[in-house]
Amino acid sequence: MAALRLAESDLFEQVALVDVVPGLAAGLVLDMWHGAGLYGFSSPLVGSDDLGALAGADYIVITAGKPRQPGMTRTDLTAVNAAIMASVCEGVRRHAPEATVVVVSNPLEEMTHLAARFTGFPQQRVLGMAGVLDSARFCSLVGLTGKARPSEVRALALGSHGPEMVIPLSQAFIGDQPIEALIDGPTLAAIVERTRESGGEVVKLLQKGSAYFSPAESAAAMVRAMATDSGEVLAACVRSGGAYGTTDTRVGLPVRLGRRGLGEIVKLALRPDEQTALAEAAGRIAQRITEVEALVDAAG
Ligand code: LAC
Repeated sequence: MAALRLAESDLFEQVALVDVVPGLAAGLVLDMWHGAGLYGFSSPLVGSDDLGALAGADYIVITAGKPRQPGMTRTDLTAVNAAIMASVCEGVRRHAPEATVVVVSNPLEEMTHLAARFTGFPQQRVLGMAGVLDSARFCSLVGLTGKARPSEVRALALGSHGPEMVIPLSQAFIGDQPIEALIDGPTLAAIVERTRESGGEVVKLLQKGSAYFSPAESAAAMVRAMATDSGEVLAACVRSGGAYGTTDTRVGLPVRLGRRGLGEIVKLALRPDEQTALAEAAGRIAQRITEVEALVDAAG
């Protein structure tokens, strides 16, 4: 889906899809290309089981990894996905040393951290995709209240892609009105809670696999923002460098992306409770990252 959405944008010389299963990526892109005239795009697509197909890529979206099964948390995926991340990043480093990487694999903050470690790329060129998705989920759930269309809602989901997700309502708007002036507190709290659980809600319904339409569009939106240097403010998982009083770890923050990854962390006037929640989220993520580092070190 991410490959299709990027091809459809017609912004790229080529879109390459890679999967370890022989023939799978080639078959998928052939299917996508058959619809090129109907979709109205002409970007060439290639599909391969060889990471060499990434040669010279400017942007790489890494979705490789096992998805959750019903009842699993994202953290249950750490060990298996860390090993997959190591082999994918080895190929990325070899074939596309100048690329900017967008990590989608879960658990998101840990995998983004490992992608930075395994590629050795500068921090600015390793981003995690979760904030765009979680923000979009919040906006679409607000849409279910009938008070606004999803596209009229603006919000940023920060912190972690999981239990420590922080959606600062002080920064959420319907049109140019503060959302808290239009929707009552308990309703908003329930929407935030459902947003936090939305990935799991989809996993539970699908029984096999996790969400892909909206995660794919979210990753594609980040890549398009970079390729067009759009300057929009998005939520993304980045190395915080201590911004917002956080531990220096991978955490979802408001950012402006540039052509080569992180442009800047955007400073919003969060309320003290929002700022505290964000700092707590970063603290817990830092702890998990320490654990994942130990796991990888032990595996050699
Ligand atoms: C989700 C997965 C992509 O939230 O983490 O659906």
